[in-house]
Amino acid sequence: MKLQSHSHSAMACNDSRLFRLGGQEISRNPPLPLTLRKSPRRLCTVQCSHSNHSLPYPPSLSIIKSTSKVFSAISNSLPNIMSFLTSDSTKMEGSDFTEEVTEATEIYINAIGKKKIFVAGATGSTGKRIVERLLAKGFRVKAGVRDLDKAKTILPQDNPALQIVKADVTEGSAKLADAISDDSEAVICATGCRSGWDLYAPWKVDNLGTVNLVDACRKLGVKRFILVSSLLVNGAAMGQILNPAYIFLNVFGLTLIAKLRAEDYIRESGMNYTIIRPGGLRNEPPTGNLVMEPEDTLYEGTISRDQVAEVAIAALVRPQASYKVVEIVARADAPKRSYGDLFSSITQR
Ligand SMILES: NC(=O)c1ccc[n+]([C@@H]2O[C@H](COP(=O)([O-])OP(=O)(O)OC[C@H]3O[C@@H](n4cnc5c(N)ncnc54)[C@H](OP(=O)(O)O)[C@@H]3O)[C@@H](O)[C@H]2O)c1
Repeated sequence: MKLQSHSHSAMACNDSRLFRLGGQEISRNPPLPLTLRKSPRRLCTVQCSHSNHSLPYPPSLSIIKSTSKVFSAISNSLPNIMSFLTSDSTKMEGSDFTEEVTEATEIYINAIGKKKIFVAGATGSTGKRIVERLLAKGFRVKAGVRDLDKAKTILPQDNPALQIVKADVTEGSAKLADAISDDSEAVICATGCRSGWDLYAPWKVDNLGTVNLVDACRKLGVKRFILVSSLLVNGAAMGQILNPAYIFLNVFGLTLIAKLRAEDYIRESGMNYTIIRPGGLRNEPPTGNLVMEPEDTLYEGTISRDQVAEVAIAALVRPQASYKVVEIVARADAPKRSYGDLFSSITQR
């Protein structure tokens, strides 16, 4: 295991496999080869130095046992967590989230011809919105789902532009490559682990599953990859290690760390990526204008899933979104800006 120790950073690990969170040991058994790399912005980043992503499960029950302080922080701050995780109900009158992407979309669709956009996690609350909007804009879509019967109840039926295929991201890259196949131009990943008792599930879905998708794309020569990730994935490096949302989403399965690992894999894959990190997702229609910031900037706020779906499609058709990580929330007092302007304002790293 490689380690570069680093200042007073909130996380540290060593060869005896201690893993510390906010000065507390949270697990003796995270066989994560954690490397601390200096964040371009703030403290440090937890990064994998392993090329093999078939890692044993990092979180353990010791995480829960040793985080009593963390739990009390969570219970004290539940309202803040909820504002990140769920909705606010403030409506902004006249907010119009559909933007100027029509022309760019037409150019893109003409360029890709009959090829499809593969959406992983297409039965999810964000995934289905991405599928619906892609279809509405004239794309051919291949919806990757775990359960074909469930998909029939969620996704549009009898649309000749929509193909629904089975695609469980935990079943390996070979099966995924069959599902994506050579008629897909790009992949949008909107998968996310469903809550449950399996503490390994976030790691399997949000890290290894996304890695499998990337590997499938590389086998097929699919070059464009868009990931719906999350705000705060790099919370430790942002000085947000005690942010209740960061704690909450990591305590049960290291969800944010799993997502960060997947992001790192994408960034190192050579693919043309856009990583979209939204704030807390709301099912309600948009209630404010889009705020887009560079990676490791925002640590609170919410956004409608409708807006996230629009941003994913805007990223697909706008070259300014290539090789970028963007963080998004919606704010009623934010100025309305075009996608071109927003993506252009983010610097590539
Ligand atoms: N909830 C929030 O406030 C929030 C905030 C920021 C970021 N995010 C992230 O944004 C993304 C979308 O969130 P969401 O709430 O819209 O998601 P969601 O409704 O929970 O949907 C998740 C999707 O992932 C699919 N999925 C789960 N395991 C899978 C597997 N092994 N193989 C293939 N697909 C699998 C689910 O399939 P089934 O339908 O078959 O279960 C579902 O379609 C997620 O990555 C989430 O972590 C969420």
